[in-house]
Amino acid sequence: ANPTNLVIAIDGPSGSGKSSVSKAVARALGAAYLDTGAMYRAITYSVLDAGTDLSDAAAIATAVREAKLEISVDPDHEHVVIGDTVVTDAIREPRISEQVSAVATNLEARAELVRRQREIIATNVRIVAEGRDITTVVAPDANARILLTASEEARLRRRGIQLGGTQDASALASQVLERDKKDSTVVNFTQAADGVITVDSSDLDFEQTINAVLDAINTAAKK
Ligand code: DC
Repeated sequence: ANPTNLVIAIDGPSGSGKSSVSKAVARALGAAYLDTGAMYRAITYSVLDAGTDLSDAAAIATAVREAKLEISVDPDHEHVVIGDTVVTDAIREPRISEQVSAVATNLEARAELVRRQREIIATNVRIVAEGRDITTVVAPDANARILLTASEEARLRRRGIQLGGTQDASALASQVLERDKKDSTVVNFTQAADGVITVDSSDLDFEQTINAVLDAINTAAKK
């Protein structure tokens, strides 16, 4: 390994602030940024677009292996292409969020995406990679490994869900929590693995969270 290489692994549940914090940390470190969730989302988009039955695990696995998937690693410019289609915005649609677990819980699909993520990490000298299994599976040898957590209340607040007892709010809340529950059946991102530093952002604002993550990176780098 090249001693000047820097790999930072960040995992966490939805609403932990993971994406915006990871991007800011990448900027601060002059590093590339890999949003692995965007890869799961892009595959979901193409599988839906092809009319593939989401309960057909073998078809999903084949689709991932054959997918032409491009993802930018510039923290200031998000760009995702699947096949010949730019899906940067489309992968954020609720229909994708609602169905992405079909891909995320497919073990063959995961193996192929993990392989591609490792390739991307290996071709960048400095990179912050973010997802659910980066600290444990994709880059267990990273220079620093961080689990960004937040209380359920804080996560729902960040997702813009005001829990005032309306039906809409509780439906949205259960969507967010259900997705994490489904995803955590295949990857453990609720507890820090050995050597992974936990940063709890529940009571921190955006700036404070970035600083806490940068501190954690410094601490890990000294070891
Ligand atoms: O972080 P996100 O909401 O964009 O993630 C989209 C989905 O992909 C979510 O269901 C979790 C899953 N995911 C995963 O299983 N492993 C990763 N490394 C990244 C995301």
